[in-house]
Amino acid sequence: MPGIICLGTQWGDEGKGKVTDMLADKMKMVVRYQGGNNAGHTVIVDNVTLKLHSIPSGILYPHIVNVIGDGLVVDPKDLIKEMNSLVSQGISTEKLFISGNCHLIMPYHKILDSVRERKLGKYKIGTTGKGIGPTYADKAARIGIRAQDLFDIKILEQKLEQALKEKNQVMTKLYNLKPLKAKELIAEYSVYAKYLKKRIVDTSKMINDALDRGDKVFFEGAQGTMLDIDHGSYPYVTSSSPVAGGACAGSGVGPLKINKVIGVTKAYTTRVGEGPFPTEQINRFGQKMQEIGGEVGTTTGRARRCGWFDAIVVKHAASVNSLSVIFLTKLDVLSSFKKIKIASAYNYRGKRYDYFPPHQTIFNKAKPEYMELDGWNSDISGITKYEKLPRQARKYVETIEKLVGVPIKYISVGPSRRQTIKR
Ligand code: GDP
Ligand code: IMO
Ligand code: MG
Repeated sequence: MPGIICLGTQWGDEGKGKVTDMLADKMKMVVRYQGGNNAGHTVIVDNVTLKLHSIPSGILYPHIVNVIGDGLVVDPKDLIKEMNSLVSQGISTEKLFISGNCHLIMPYHKILDSVRERKLGKYKIGTTGKGIGPTYADKAARIGIRAQDLFDIKILEQKLEQALKEKNQVMTKLYNLKPLKAKELIAEYSVYAKYLKKRIVDTSKMINDALDRGDKVFFEGAQGTMLDIDHGSYPYVTSSSPVAGGACAGSGVGPLKINKVIGVTKAYTTRVGEGPFPTEQINRFGQKMQEIGGEVGTTTGRARRCGWFDAIVVKHAASVNSLSVIFLTKLDVLSSFKKIKIASAYNYRGKRYDYFPPHQTIFNKAKPEYMELDGWNSDISGITKYEKLPRQARKYVETIEKLVGVPIKYISVGPSRRQTIKR
């Protein structure tokens, strides 16, 4: 039962797309288990850059079955657009399947996402505006519409009319917006139903059958541990569970089928949207990381906030995900820094924390305690052997490894598949 989970250990955008694409070669199946089109995963192969949002990053390999698991929220309009864009680039989507249990993002979810953010003003989350939070909220409230509802337009009609009764009240009375018409939504979603129907299947059975046959299955996380609804920097999080436990719930497999958890970790830290970020550098260091690292959101085009490596955050991720190994990415981005810092602890009101603080206030106000290391001042983007890395770069990698307590097995020194060092 070779089930492998690959997830982000920080605030997302760690390079999960590259890692999944690179390791997927030996897999039979790649499964996304949570989130939706809020994700933006970049895969670069032979000078072609692909930006994936809802589709798993195994899609470039014709032999791989790609699965959108139960735990996702799906915007059918966006998904079809993404599929068509891949097909126009010569990439087949024939082996893409969608769980019937996925919840559908409806137009009112997107409207409510943006209007709620506007109303929150300075307290906004800085969401991607894709309707993710409102869709998961309806799922939990048990008034959601699922992919399997597309099979029966009568049921879809009933559920939609029921949902709209409440949504239209909220939109008109609370937010002064126009109501939505059930008929128009039915007409729109019936078109999507025709297009997607043949792909909507029992994906849990499909994945379990594959695992039972001994096929290698790769579970690809979106977002990152610090954006997890339970274990992240709540309320500045997304509305799903990117952590390793979420892979089981979000794809319908038991934990005993998983035998490895890979944590994808950026060599520094970034975050998109609002919320606490202890090691953020609003200065020339942060700006330099932003520029060299090309740190611009794949989904929203917002500049990512940047800062030094935070070992407390990644140690927390190591713990809640039981990481087997770390895939360290973007080490090349730090190549021109004379000195590089790593936060090894936080201080708050005279107390030192070398672990993730249990209370939100402490994390919000924590002052990082830094170690300072020498930079290596040379281009490492063509290096493929660990021993060939400059001494200072190896020291940086080994310091992170020691602080986090998880072996770093891979080091990425550039965006393409081949710019990777295996230790
Ligand atoms: P994801 O959301 O975790 O899949 O990450 P994104 O794709 O949103 O952001 C990571 C960005 O860094 C992408 O533009 C990748 O092409 C790029 N990238 C990945 N690994 C490396 C690396 O080792 N070095 C550099 N310079 N860029 C990388
Ligand atoms: P990938 O998979 C980085 C952030 C948003 C916002 C918060 C909530 O590319 O790593 P949402 O729209 O999910 O309700 O927004 O989560 N966010 C991400 N940040 N990478 C992502 O995905 C993200 N998906 C959501 O910026 O702060
Ligand atoms: Mg991303």
